[in-house]
Amino acid sequence: MTRPRVRPATSRTASIAAITATTDTPRRRTTRSATPRTTGRPPRRTTATDQRRPRHTPPYTPSVPTTPPIKAARGVRDILPAERAAFAVVEHAAREQARGYGYQDVELPIIEPVELIERGVGGDTDVARKELYRLEPHGDPGDPPREIRTRPPRFRGDPGDGDRDSASRLVLRPEATASMVRAYFQGGLNQGPQPVRLSTIGPFFRHDKPQHLRYRQFVQFDVEVIGDDSPAYDAEVIELTWGWLERMGIRHVSLELNSIGDENCRPQYLRALQDYYRPLKDQLDPDCRRRVEENPLRLFDCKEPQCQPLMAAAPRITDHLCGPCAAAFEEVKSLLGAAGLEYRLNPRLVRGLDYYTRTVFEYQHEALGGAQNSLGGGGRYDGLAAALGYPGTPGVGFAGGVDRVAYMLQHEAGTITPPAVAEVLVLPVGDGLDRAASQVGRLVRAVRSTAVDYSSRSLRAKMRAADRTGARWAVIMNADEAERRIVVLHDMVSGDDRHVAWERLAEAVSPSPSAGEGQGGGE
Ligand code: HAM
Repeated sequence: MTRPRVRPATSRTASIAAITATTDTPRRRTTRSATPRTTGRPPRRTTATDQRRPRHTPPYTPSVPTTPPIKAARGVRDILPAERAAFAVVEHAAREQARGYGYQDVELPIIEPVELIERGVGGDTDVARKELYRLEPHGDPGDPPREIRTRPPRFRGDPGDGDRDSASRLVLRPEATASMVRAYFQGGLNQGPQPVRLSTIGPFFRHDKPQHLRYRQFVQFDVEVIGDDSPAYDAEVIELTWGWLERMGIRHVSLELNSIGDENCRPQYLRALQDYYRPLKDQLDPDCRRRVEENPLRLFDCKEPQCQPLMAAAPRITDHLCGPCAAAFEEVKSLLGAAGLEYRLNPRLVRGLDYYTRTVFEYQHEALGGAQNSLGGGGRYDGLAAALGYPGTPGVGFAGGVDRVAYMLQHEAGTITPPAVAEVLVLPVGDGLDRAASQVGRLVRAVRSTAVDYSSRSLRAKMRAADRTGARWAVIMNADEAERRIVVLHDMVSGDDRHVAWERLAEAVSPSPSAGEGQGGGE
């Protein structure tokens, strides 16, 4: 994969001036001597190539629009080449990092049954309550809702038939973990060697209020280890994901760590939390008042200023861990220490999803601030498989926000220049050269990415465009030289020109092994 590079801020404008000036050099005299300097275009000459095919059709004239332009939906965006280059770096680093630790890549569906998400992340979480994109029933508008046919599970661990006929019960996935666990069982990965290490990168959907770095469609890099409860896997996932941020040079990240216990010790802690909050209910916002009785751990998700001082003084879960949970937490901390990873213990960190047990962690970036400061997070979820109707199976994982990390990469590393549109641009000058230019393009494409500029613009305009796209070479063609099967090869970096026969062109632009070059254009 060609990795985009951080390009030095040198301008190649001088190079353009040089080549457009060379339109008067003796070697191109046949066409250039009569070329008006304003356009750089040679006079029209009839060639053998021309006689075999029609001249250019008149330029395309756009019609006047009659309706307002259609824009993207609110909260979603296009990742255009300039930003895509940063995404490519982030995704490349993610894949390398996952491969380095023996994780296998998977692709999962973007639509999932609503039960998977509601029972997975928890029906009382913001993600399930407010942010799910629920799909409309399939069929004609006005059709009565179709019967939902399901076969109940026949034995422990059998997921049943699911509601295959019910598009009304599908959602766009808001996260990957529940799907990963479903896929692990449904695909029989639970039958092979354990644990199973899986990773994926893809789009996720949450109908939250759009803000800077909070999108309704965003990309996550997700890793999961399913099938073993050793705290060493918690530490491995943290080390892997820390290394992902580190290898991209993302700095000023703090690793927040906590343990939220398990089904043995958490109920007792939740009672302590309710005892603390009940007398303070009238100081809470309405959502938190409800949470005190229904799901007290979610009180820590609250961002309302009035609730913050109460949260700061609330009982800490780490003071209520049972023996095994406390021992597992000590082990995670000790392994992180041995790996040289610095972390900050944060007893208020509970993460926004209900499936977590024991270790939870999050990477926060100081520059992001506010509610969007999390670059990624994860934790252990030993109860999730059972909540989804599968045999109890431990797991631990992480998801990183690719949009946010790509933003930080651009912010911290400066401009990431997209890879050149093509390393070589073929620039035919004058009419009737399309066929010859596409043939030259084909010859060069054997060794370098090559694009042909078939437009009727002047050489100067084409050269300017070539410079802006970051091309390494321009191959300039005119009718006379096309007849003789030669071109001018212009080096966009040094500004040098030379005549090259078509047959020698691929060799002339081939990656040179001695220079260790050839990893893409835009150098
Ligand atoms: P999460 O904390 O909900 O965890 O999301 C992980 C990361 O996805 C966040 O830290 C953030 O960087 C990014 N993210 C989430 N929502 C948005 C959004 N609306 N716009 C942009 N970026 C966003 C999970 O999803 C868990 N499944 C992580 C996990 C995996 N736990 C165990 N295994």
